Amino acid sequence: MRERYTYEKAETETAKLKKMVSNDEVSNYNEAEEVVKENQKYTDDYLDYLFDRLDDVGLTEKREEVENSFIEAVYDSKTKTISDACKELEVIIQLRAQSVEFLRAGLSINEKDVDIVDARFNLVHDIDASTNNQELFLGSGNIARVYSLADEPGLCVKKIINEVGYSQENSVASEARFQNDLSGFEVAGVRTPYVKETLSGGGLTVIVMEELDAVNFEIAAKGKAPIPAGFDIDDFFDRLKQYINAMHEEKGIFHKDLAPRNIMICNKTGNPFVIDFGRSEYLADAKNSELSKDKDFAGIEASRALMRKSLE
Ligand SMILES: Nc1ncnc2c1ncn2[C@@H]1O[C@H](COP(=O)(O)OP(=O)(O)OP(=O)(O)O)[C@@H](O)[C@H]1O
Ligand SMILES: [Mg+2]
Repeated sequence: MRERYTYEKAETETAKLKKMVSNDEVSNYNEAEEVVKENQKYTDDYLDYLFDRLDDVGLTEKREEVENSFIEAVYDSKTKTISDACKELEVIIQLRAQSVEFLRAGLSINEKDVDIVDARFNLVHDIDASTNNQELFLGSGNIARVYSLADEPGLCVKKIINEVGYSQENSVASEARFQNDLSGFEVAGVRTPYVKETLSGGGLTVIVMEELDAVNFEIAAKGKAPIPAGFDIDDFFDRLKQYINAMHEEKGIFHKDLAPRNIMICNKTGNPFVIDFGRSEYLADAKNSELSKDKDFAGIEASRALMRKSLE
């Protein structure tokens, strides 16, 4: 039950305010009222609440040390008032919360451009919302799940789920580099989705890229999704081979994971798209480039065989 506001209580409170003014702690009644209000906010309970917030901003490891030093200062040596302690903690938490957000958004804490910061924060929130919405789910593999981006038509987000397995092989930045090098590169009507950006930090590892209007080749070949109307098996593989050959010869890139699950069929034209450069390699780094080349063409033949069997 709320305490009743009695005449006596009002009188003692007024007396308290008067005392504060006469002791020169404050210069007038308004200020005194402000101080009283503030003291009502900065209580022992609020201090405890702020200690809990340290966990929320990723400071669990530091919590005990911070908590002990504040408790010592407030309750033992009395070198800090409770409101000073709370205010200091608020600043620590706010800065830390911001830096976690900055990390997630791939920004530096010194980033000055308000528009860039706003755009990235919005993107991170959009990614969080989209990757929690099953209606936006597009597909998944061993490493990642892919979702349409809710607020950005035409874009999707590949969110790395298996961080351990992934980091041994590649990173979102290196994967995106292959796709960037292939942007604008189209051979026989075949291309790869363009990358808008990558983010890595604060528990978020993603590639934001073009969402293809296409069905996954493996899913279609296994009869789990309709094959687009324009699809013709010979034409499809003729185009795919031309593209992969040009990618090797002109761009010096080997895909190295050209399995049915990493090929898509365009809904409009029936032509191939090549996705997922998570295991790709540059000619300059290749230990055995002939082997890498052969691996890509073997992947194409395995995909053709899978589709042929399904069309029989
Ligand atoms: N740009 C895109 N547009 C539409 N769908 C996509 C796109 N990129 C990926 N997908 C879908 O999401 C699935 C998973 O993506 P991706 O192959 O990149 O993940 P992965 O975990 O790296 O796969 P893997 O198991 O082959 O390593 C794809 O098989 C495809 O169906
Ligand atoms: Mg894949």
